[in-house]
Amino acid sequence: MANTKISLVNVAVVCLASLVAILGLFPAAVWAKNIVDLSSQTQKWTLSSSALNISVRGQVPSHVHLDLFKEQVIGDPYYGLNDFNLRWVAWNDWNYTSKVEGLCNNRKRSNDTKTFLLFNGLDTFADIFFCGQAVASAENQFRQFFFDVTDSLSSCSSASPELRILFHSAPAATSAMANLPGQEAWPYGVEVTLEFSNRQFMRKQQSDFGWDWGPGFAPSGIWQPAWAVQLEPGEVHMRNSMVDIYRVGQLNNLRPDQTKDWVLNASIDVIGELPTDAKFGYIIKDASTGAAVSAGELVNVTNHGDVISGAAVLDATKYKLWWPNGLGAQNLYNVTISVVSPYYSTAVASITKRTGFRTVLLYMGEVTDEEVAQGWGPGGHWHFEINGHPFYAKGSNFIPPDAFWPRVTPAKIRQLFDSAIRGRQNMLRVWASGAYSPDFMYDLADEMGLLLWSEFEFGDSLYPVDPAFLDNAGQEAHYQVRRVNHHPSLALWAGGNELENLELLLVNTTAPEQYDRYRSEFETLFIGVLATAVFTNSRSITYMPSSTNNGYLVLNHTAPLPMAPRYQDVPPGAIYGNTDYYNYAASQAFNISAYPIGRFSVEFGFHSVPSLASLSAVLPADQLAFNSTTLTLRNHHYSPRGLRTDNVANASRGMGEMTLAVQAHYPSPNLTDPEANLTAWIYATQVFQADFYRRQIAFYRVGSGRPEAQRGCLYWQLDDVWQAPSWAGIEYEGRWKVMHYAVRDAYSEVVVVLLWNATSSEMQVWVVSDLWAPANGRLEVEWVDWEGETVGGREEMEFEVGGVNATLVKKMDFSTIFGSGGNGTLNASELVLVARVTATGTPVNAKATRTYSHIDYWTPTPLASAALVDPGVTVVYDKAHEVFVVTATKGVSMWTWLSAAVEDDVVVNFEDNGFMMLKAEVRRLRFSALKPGREGWQGRVSVSSIWDQTLAS
Ligand SMILES: *[C@@H]1O[C@H](CO)[C@@H](O)[C@H](O)[C@H]1NC(C)=O
Ligand SMILES: *[C@@H]1O[C@H](CO)[C@@H](O)[C@H](O)[C@H]1NC(C)=O
Ligand SMILES: *[C@@H]1O[C@H](CO)[C@@H](O)[C@H](O)[C@H]1NC(C)=O
Ligand SMILES: *[C@@H]1O[C@H](CO)[C@@H](O)[C@H](O)[C@H]1NC(C)=O
Ligand SMILES: *[C@@H]1O[C@H](CO)[C@@H](O)[C@H](O)[C@H]1NC(C)=O
Repeated sequence: MANTKISLVNVAVVCLASLVAILGLFPAAVWAKNIVDLSSQTQKWTLSSSALNISVRGQVPSHVHLDLFKEQVIGDPYYGLNDFNLRWVAWNDWNYTSKVEGLCNNRKRSNDTKTFLLFNGLDTFADIFFCGQAVASAENQFRQFFFDVTDSLSSCSSASPELRILFHSAPAATSAMANLPGQEAWPYGVEVTLEFSNRQFMRKQQSDFGWDWGPGFAPSGIWQPAWAVQLEPGEVHMRNSMVDIYRVGQLNNLRPDQTKDWVLNASIDVIGELPTDAKFGYIIKDASTGAAVSAGELVNVTNHGDVISGAAVLDATKYKLWWPNGLGAQNLYNVTISVVSPYYSTAVASITKRTGFRTVLLYMGEVTDEEVAQGWGPGGHWHFEINGHPFYAKGSNFIPPDAFWPRVTPAKIRQLFDSAIRGRQNMLRVWASGAYSPDFMYDLADEMGLLLWSEFEFGDSLYPVDPAFLDNAGQEAHYQVRRVNHHPSLALWAGGNELENLELLLVNTTAPEQYDRYRSEFETLFIGVLATAVFTNSRSITYMPSSTNNGYLVLNHTAPLPMAPRYQDVPPGAIYGNTDYYNYAASQAFNISAYPIGRFSVEFGFHSVPSLASLSAVLPADQLAFNSTTLTLRNHHYSPRGLRTDNVANASRGMGEMTLAVQAHYPSPNLTDPEANLTAWIYATQVFQADFYRRQIAFYRVGSGRPEAQRGCLYWQLDDVWQAPSWAGIEYEGRWKVMHYAVRDAYSEVVVVLLWNATSSEMQVWVVSDLWAPANGRLEVEWVDWEGETVGGREEMEFEVGGVNATLVKKMDFSTIFGSGGNGTLNASELVLVARVTATGTPVNAKATRTYSHIDYWTPTPLASAALVDPGVTVVYDKAHEVFVVTATKGVSMWTWLSAAVEDDVVVNFEDNGFMMLKAEVRRLRFSALKPGREGWQGRVSVSSIWDQTLAS
């Protein structure tokens, strides 16, 4: 091994060769540093509240709620209305106390031993005491903190000094901040309040104070690992590091030259003092084979003692590119960077980070005259480019997968990402107002090919701009940018959620005379502080201040305000920026004229009720009914403000929206048995949700062939934080709702879209492709009646569709087709329009062609008034092949739905579900069981369709 590495640098001078030899061995530091892991199971912690007279075993990393639950002081926080009942946990202060064993106090090797406490995350308002002495206070969940406790330790009489961290109630702390004399305030309504108020003053997960899809527990605790670190002179402890890989000459937000070599810019942050003569070197290996690709010394080294940085130019021909899911391979490399002390011939700090070679850009440049001549609408671009290629971003919005991050495991994230990948997604927007993603989440995204649009944790509010707040936010951003920058899956940094196009516009409505002031404050934080944190640490990642925006007018990387946003300065007829869209009016759900036209859709959606299996886990049996008090109060759209369980008025509005949507479009269940009725309504709300999403995705994708040149669609939302009505497509335990199956279909590479314009009564048949090369094929269109017979023949035609484009293949004027109200003879309630496409195309970054097929269907009346017949749909489990065989024996089956029995307690996702079947069609479906469930559950899987909703009982 060592020989291979040395041969790589056979041109180097002797001292470099020996440096590389040293790096190759990765020796431990010369001295055995003394590191006490405060989060190990052997470290005993006590969680206590003197006021409440509670003292129990605590854990690190953990949260107070989790520890109280584990020790049976409280019940499951997710059960019933515990969201409301456990407010007292949030309103109290809590001590975490531990005796720290294993510190060298009297046993220290020199009189210059230094002792530090290192916390990767304290949530949030924490006072730290060591050996009875106040050490420091911390007020930021997202920062890493370290404190020098050398003096406290040397004056400590105990060999196992006490470490105590007092967590102050976050609602109480923020309330006190809001009431400080001279504290900043904002016009009414600008701060979106859900359960607890004043979240804008805290640097803590904003959704901890409640959100419209989840509970507000406002948890506290040592939520990340912690250590006590003892260093001798000359020793350092690495606490963070940064690897930036970009093309020579590349600058954030601008198109890099893809012909250039790569630059590796690396940096290590330490506690302690780096040797002034330190050398800084790197080795890069293929992450799967381990073969060394290159190695050498970093140049242009700056050594500030606690931070060392350096760079190298890497020969681009040696590295295979990293691509997102569906666009190529996820090639990964392990970069080891090491600080070497020449005096001791050893590495004093060394880290291996797995990375990839790619450029990813959110391009916001002006649309050129040439592009306008080719049919593009004038304005600005707003699309992603991977390795220089524009592509269609298909994905969703990711919210915190649990209200308590310490119990989120890599297995849980892998399961969610796997569902996203199976759903043909290549990008997730990790929504701001949760927490910065853990490293394991980016690692999984790197492996699986999911781009993570990442955001600083600010949202739906304006924020203070006093110097302390700005400093706190700036340090947070600096730490987080450095921590995750090496991940090829990192696609973007946005300043926060819905700031520009929501909060600032709100100010302009409610307090226009103060608009300039708040806009300037917005720029101070989101451009002056956050853009600068990105631009000074990374040259590879695009920054934008807000999740929705219209791009920028000016970009100057080194100015104090590096960007001037365009805001609403959009000339008439021009198209800029991305869109979000929420409209809860049932009558508008399928009206394409109501959907926004923009370059990219970042949010849209509608909520639905999760499965009976999910609800059964958290609702008392007597609450398993549609519109039961507990189910209604768990619906936080709209938020039960005032923190009162008798405040059902808001949540009832949300339940009402779902009810009205179902009634307008589908048969409405009305069953006497409450649980059967709930089951039917769950399915109904999920079918509406699925239909709404598939139609909107189709509309945005058709936009790829229209003047808006639409280039992305991220629906709201991928996952659930708990078991309650929400916009999620995947339930808390991992079950797919109807919607996740529907969007998986809508995200197929080549799709046919029946685009109905109710205003003009015109049906357009489009073929859309997100392949990069043209594809061609055949389109078939036919009317089918509910018994499954073709009515009026089948039309077939050829088409060609360009790369990342859409083509209009056929128009149909319905005014001449239908009898009632039209001039034709067909009865609208008896028909379904079916369009089928078969295309040949070449997958992105592949050589051989492939066949793609897709079906779309549309009914000229809502299913609520369609003359549905029993499709005779059956399911049989074929044990030998481990597939479910589904057949529509008698007619057309809409929204065919397989479900496992609730009693079987299985979490299963099928290869497909919620689909349309024509008469005599047979589907053979595989499945994946995430939780095995009761033996033989497969034999008890049942199937139904929308027709079953018409049955009364
Ligand atoms: C935390 O511990 C300190 C020291 O024992 C005590 O004075 C304080 O009251 C405790 N606070 C809580 C909330 O238990
Ligand atoms: C530490 O300091 C004490 C008092 O000055 C001295 O007696 C002792 O030799 C020193 N120990 C070491 C290891 O330097
Ligand atoms: C590269 O790094 C990853 C993650 O740290 C590790 O799992 C893998 O084994 C490494 N590959 C090689 C060849 O050492
Ligand atoms: C090192 O600095 C010089 C002078 O600024 C610059 O020309 C060169 O590109 C830098 N090298 C690397 C690898 O960044
Ligand atoms: C603020 O509102 C006024 C009046 O409606 C409007 O003319 C102006 O364009 C708005 N400014 C911004 C930045 O939206």
